[in-house]
Formats: sequence, C-alpha cells, structure tokens
Amino acid sequence: MKNYIVHDEWCIIEEGFHPEYNEITESLMSLGNGRMGGRGNFEEKYSGKTLQGNYVAGVWFPDKTRVGWWKNGYPNYFAKVLNACNWTGIDLEIDGETLDLARCEVSEFRRVLNMQEGTLERSFVVKLPSGKSLKINTLRFCSLKDDEAGAISYSITPLNFSTQAKLTVSLDGDISNKDSNHGEKFWNEISKETTHGECYLTLETKKSKWDSVPTFQVCTGMKFECFKGGESVDCQTMPIKKDKYVANEVKLSLKQNEETVIYKYAVNLSSENYPVENLTAEAKNYLARITAKGFNQMLEEQILTWKAKWEGNDIQIDGDVAAQQGIRFNIFHLQQTYTGEDSRLNIGPKGFTGEKYGGSTYWDTEAYCLPFYLSTSEQKVARNLLVYRHNHLKRAIENAEKLGFSNGAALYPMVTMNGEECHNEWEITFEEIHRNGAIAYAIYDYIRYTNDENYLQEYGLEVLIGIARFWSQRINWSSAQQKYVMLGVTGPNEYENNVNNNWYTNYLAVWCLKYTLEALEKVKSNPFRYEQIVNLTSFDETAETSKWKNIIKNMYFPYDAEREVFLQQDGFLDKELLTVHDIAEHRPINQKWSWDRILRSCFIKQADVLQGLYFFEDDFSVDVLRKNFDFYEPMTVHESSLSPCVHVIQAAKLGKKDKAYEMYVRTARLDLDDYNNDTEDGLHITSMAGTWMSVVKGFGGMRIKENTLAFSPFLPEQWQSFSFRVGFRQNALQVAIFHDYITIDNLSETPISVLVEADRVTIKGLETVNIPH
Ligand code: BGC
Repeated sequence: MKNYIVHDEWCIIEEGFHPEYNEITESLMSLGNGRMGGRGNFEEKYSGKTLQGNYVAGVWFPDKTRVGWWKNGYPNYFAKVLNACNWTGIDLEIDGETLDLARCEVSEFRRVLNMQEGTLERSFVVKLPSGKSLKINTLRFCSLKDDEAGAISYSITPLNFSTQAKLTVSLDGDISNKDSNHGEKFWNEISKETTHGECYLTLETKKSKWDSVPTFQVCTGMKFECFKGGESVDCQTMPIKKDKYVANEVKLSLKQNEETVIYKYAVNLSSENYPVENLTAEAKNYLARITAKGFNQMLEEQILTWKAKWEGNDIQIDGDVAAQQGIRFNIFHLQQTYTGEDSRLNIGPKGFTGEKYGGSTYWDTEAYCLPFYLSTSEQKVARNLLVYRHNHLKRAIENAEKLGFSNGAALYPMVTMNGEECHNEWEITFEEIHRNGAIAYAIYDYIRYTNDENYLQEYGLEVLIGIARFWSQRINWSSAQQKYVMLGVTGPNEYENNVNNNWYTNYLAVWCLKYTLEALEKVKSNPFRYEQIVNLTSFDETAETSKWKNIIKNMYFPYDAEREVFLQQDGFLDKELLTVHDIAEHRPINQKWSWDRILRSCFIKQADVLQGLYFFEDDFSVDVLRKNFDFYEPMTVHESSLSPCVHVIQAAKLGKKDKAYEMYVRTARLDLDDYNNDTEDGLHITSMAGTWMSVVKGFGGMRIKENTLAFSPFLPEQWQSFSFRVGFRQNALQVAIFHDYITIDNLSETPISVLVEADRVTIKGLETVNIPH
C-alpha cells in the first residue's frame, strides 16, 4: 500500500514530487471525456519513469495472438486499445538545457486532479543544472462539452535570468503500445501539415490480416498561442516534420519574473465518426471553433458541465475525508470513461488510463457497471449497454460454433471489441464461461429496475435463447451421479482452473434456463413477435424447453452438509483450509507464488460462491449467506478489483460493520492507495462501479423489492452521515442516512412509494420525509 496522496474531499493531490511513484500518479491523474483521454503525463520531456498514454475511444488494433503453445479454438488476435498520438507535448530548452524533471532540482511541486472541475494542474519551481531557476504552472483538461478536444495552459516564469528560449509544441504519433505482443508499432502515417502555430497529423492503424477488423484513421490537430501580461504575442515559429511527428519550434523571449503563457488546443477526430476524406478539414473546423471560444471560456464550460454531472450523482460522506475522496475518485473516473452517448462504445477495465486488459468489454460491464448506470443515468444508457450485446449475438453464436457447439448456442466472449473473442488463455477463453450468464442476468436486472418489459420482445429473448442453448449443450449427464454436471470450468475465482461443478456456474446456468422459460411465456403475449423470434432462431419449443426443464430438475450442486455451505467446486474440501492471516507476508500471492501453488491452495481471488449469493440473494436466507460468507471470506485475497465491493454489500447485509467498512475502504481507495500494487498499469475502472454499489447497495441497502425501491441502511461508525441520489423510473430521489433517521427527498413531481426496512412509505411529489431507523 502507498500513502502519499493527500486526503482531500474534491482533489487528488501529490504534494512534493514522488518520481518513484510517477507511473502511479500518472494513472490516478488521468483525464478523459468519453471520446478521448490520457494519463497524467507531463507536457514537457521526462526521462524518468513514465508510461506515456493517450487513447481515442473505439480505436483499436488486432494484435496477433502470442502464446507459448497454440490450442485449437484460440482467437487469432487480442484487441488492443491503441496508445495514440500524444497531443500534450510542450518541450522547453533554455540555453541548451532541456527542462526535464528527472535531471533538475525540483521544489514546491504540486500536482492536483481537481475532480469537481475536471482539470489537472501542476506547479513547481525547477533549477536547471546551470543554476537557472523557473516557475512553471500548467492546467489541462479534456473537454466534456467539446468531447473531441483538450486544452492546456502552460505558464513559464524565469526567476533569476532572462534569455531567448526554445519551445517545441508538438504532436507525436510515433507511439507504441507497451503491451504490444510482437514489439510492433500499430500506426502508419497518412498525412501531416504544419503552418504558423498550427499542426495536423493523420495516422491510420496498420492493415490487419483479418477482414472482420477495419482500419481506423485519427486526425490529431493542434493550435497554440503565446501570451504575456494577458496580451497575445507573435512569436517566430519554425515548422518541424519528422516521421509521424509534427511540431512548431518557437523562439521565446523570457524575461526575469515575467510570465509567459502558452495555450495549446488539440482535437482528435476518428474515422469512426467522420468520413476519412474529411478528417483533416473537420479537424481544422473543430480547432477554429474551440480556439475562437478561447481557453477561459472552454474552462468555464468544463466547470459548469462537471457541476451538472456532480449534481446528478455525487455521493457525500460526512466525517471521513478518505472515504469521501475515494468515492468521488471512483465516480469521477467512471464519468470520464463512459458517457453512454455512443452505443458502439463500452467500458474498458482501464478506460483511458492504461493499456492492460486490451479489449473494451468484459463481464464487468454487465455484472458491475450496469447498476451504476441504471441508477445514475437516463434509461437509454443502460439499454445501450444491453443492445451492444444483442448486436454481437451473431458473433457469439460463431464463437460457440468454433468451440463445437451448434443450433444457435451463443457463447459471449470473455474480452471483446467487436463481438469476437480475443482472450487467449485456455482456462479463461474456453472455461470461464460464467460470463455468458452475466449477460442474461443483466437483462433481468435491467427489466427489474426499469420495468421495460418490451426489451424482451425487442432484443432480450433472442439473446436468452442463444445463452440457454449454450448451457444445455455445455452440461452432460453423469451416470455415476445420476445428475447433470458441468466439467472443466473456471469460475469467477480465477485462482482455480479446469474445475468440475463450480457451484456458481452451475447455479447461474440453471437460473438462465429458468429465466429464458419465463421470458418465452412473457413474449408469447405478443404472438406475432413470438412467432418471428421462433423463426429467426429456428426454435423448437417442445424439444428445447423440455430438455431445459429436465436440466433444471436434475442439476448437481456441490454442497457440504456438515458446514452447510455450497462448495465452490468438487473436491474443494480436500484443500488445506487456511485463512489469509496465515499467509500475510505472502501477499499479493499473484506476485509472490508460482501459479501451481496458487491453484492448489484454498485462496480465492474474488467472490465466487458469494457472487452467486449476491446475484440471487432472494433465493437464500440470511443464515445461508452468513454460513457461506464466514467460510469463504477468510480465504479471499481480493486480488481482483471486482472482489471487495460484493463483500461490502454482503457484510452490510449481515450487520458485519467493521468488515463492510474495511472492504469499502479497500474498493474505494484501491487505486489511490495502490492496494494491489498495480495502479501504475492504469486504474480499475469497472470496479469503480462496484464502489458505487458498495455505498448505495451496501450501506444504503438499496434493492428492488415489490416492484419498487427498498432501503435498509446502516451508517458506518466512522461516518456522521452519507447521501446519494438515484433515478428510478419517473422519479429522482436524494437519500441521506444519519445515525437514527433517513431522509428521502422526492425530487420529481410524481409521488413514489418505497420500502424502508419492511415499511411502505409514500412520498408525494417534491416532498421530503424523515424516517427513523
Ligand atoms: C478478474 C475478472 C475481470 C478482469 C477484468 C480479472 O482480474 O478476475 O473477473 O473480468 O480482471 O476486470
């Protein structure tokens, strides 16, 4: 764990430069706006530890699969989110010396991510080896309003000298991905141009071997202006052109104690959104429009847009600055990553903050992110996330066919960009099939929250049929057990591979079959559409549903009658049953133990049986949850970022206040405090939605019951109060939890009836009620 970030309610602050943690800070201070984003890199050259990263949404490359031993069924490529042109570069050279924080004496350093306003600021004084001293202040943002643009203000004040300095304002497209499989660079140059104070660089992703993957073009453009004492100054510029690089070199007269400010504006337009032949022209128009606005107006708009966002979904925690900072940090990054404006996009585990994990879509979206968007955004955002999977149904069917399944069985990929599987570890690609169930569960979750039953007719049922078919082919009859079994799977706990009868996967499979049967009945109320779907999917109702019913009745679930717990998989009890306290000095085990040692151990990466008890909590009593929680949680190392949040929700339900709080801090500050020693790779964006769930579903106890919202809150002792806002159907509610009462503001005009503990409470339009608890 690291503890160098200053605790503050609205800002992430690095006080004094910590070069040893620079890559972590760069991740933490990433900026984005749903369309583009990048890490909190310095504008000027830096020869110390750094991961330079800029990303454009929806732009990727199919990097040829690299494995030690090829297995039939492996995907051809791993879809990489592409590290793209660096638009932030502003380099300074003073009398032959380069400003490089790794080579100078740095003082008064402060780097601040202001989450309230959506900006990244930096200020420091630097002494060059020659003894010349300067003060630098920078401010940068990715505009939410003009979401293909970013802007920088870079201010230079010499403290003990005057000279003519050389400034290089650049666009650098000679970029490679750190995680490139074959050391290849993925960009080709298409065109570049530069004039006085303005540059354009158009790059294209290399043509791949696979026809299903298009190439993408991105035109990055930039313009800059210099100001002294608030007045624009005309500087002498010299254009520089190199391979995939274009810049302006500026001769800048610097006077002791006089501030010079450079405003740099940049745009990133991709062929996903503009015809390729117009890219440069569109970039010019875009830049002309934003530079006409000017930096200050753009900044003002940025602040206002963030203000409106925060009004919609801030969570306030009173009495615990670290917890407050943690939740805002999570909400901030979620909002920067996915805005729901474009149904082609999804939520990558690293968003715009790093490269690891490649593709954009994991089961994380359905299992963890969907509830956040359901409660905090317009309904269409969550719907778009589901439709995205419907759009990939054909590919999910092809994917299942490649693995030997037939008759329209669909297996959704573990990782994807365009619907094609691109994960290439056999134990995950072929075996971590529970992801398919999460996609069905998301349909259920969406409908239960929104009441949008039409979704089943329009899109949902086709997806469910494909998924149900997959499960019915994936199980087999065991004559020894006289039950259906599911062999060779990996559950959510990836620290077990190729196990038989993972309880969670078996339960989920049966649940999918049941839910699909229910969905069929619902859609039958529209016989025309039902008939259409039957034809479209060549559905043999009698044969298929009777097989499903038979599986539902005869599925095997591993269980230990003595401890009264579901067994994570067959044979789990043969392991040496230790707890995480027994291995304190060995953690994280994924960095300290060999893989076989992990597999043989009882240690659990993330909720597995407990994931099932979280999804299907209404099927089990609190006593069942307690027994399983008490058995599994002490063995759980939470080395997936997705783990702590589920445990918060369950610990809260079980009244385990300390455990709930401990897990909350872990999920909320996972990246801020670098719990898993991997923040330098980028942030854990998808688990940030889990942090939101920890507060709202965990401490707020929010559920859907009796077709409405239900709350069963508790206040952690460390907090004085907390409050959150949720949208539910036609209503928006502000819910505040204090020690002995809860306040609900109905912010809409429509009355609503909710459950608080077991009581029904009706709240008139625009009314506030206080309820003791
Ligand atoms: C987790 C998976 C998750 C993936 C991406 C892995 O470490 O075990 O459940 O889908 O990260 O977040």
